[in-house]
Amino acid sequence: MFGYWLTLVALAILAKASLSSAGEYSENAEVLVVQETEDFLDNPRYLNNEEIGELFDKISKEYPEIAQTYSIGNSIQGRPLNVLALSSRIPDSVNDDLLRPMVKLVANIQGDEALGRQMVLYLAQYLAAHYDSDKEVQKLLNTTDIHFLPTCNPDGFANAKVSQ
Ligand SMILES: *[C@@H]1O[C@H](CO)[C@@H](O)[C@H](O)[C@H]1NC(C)=O
Repeated sequence: MFGYWLTLVALAILAKASLSSAGEYSENAEVLVVQETEDFLDNPRYLNNEEIGELFDKISKEYPEIAQTYSIGNSIQGRPLNVLALSSRIPDSVNDDLLRPMVKLVANIQGDEALGRQMVLYLAQYLAAHYDSDKEVQKLLNTTDIHFLPTCNPDGFANAKVSQ
């Protein structure tokens, strides 16, 4: 308990110190606050394969300038392997720049190892939603094609059971 209060006091002192060291800025200095949309975290849970397909359709309709969805085929049990591609050169993705880096993020290779599946989805949603407002995201998607394959084992995921 004492350690807890000590930590709080130390944090308070640190916060005050860093505030006063920022005192060289005028009081009217503009603070750039990037409005971050993370409403995809409002109801955190694992999406099933059909929902992933619907989500990718929605993202590619909402951000047609940078997003495109496709499938690389079906799993043995017939589930589509959904991919979302994000890049500033999506609409006419001609190979005008052969040296442009292309990255593929693949998750959920083991059907019951599902954390990465949702992380990849969140990252895709985050980047798509922030392209307009965040210069860092813009820079990334202006220079790199990123392909998200949140699950390459949708059958394993669908058949996995929660162990008790
Ligand atoms: C990204 O590309 C768009 C379109 O060419 C351009 O308007 C924007 O300024 C670029 N953003 C950055 C951060 O390079």
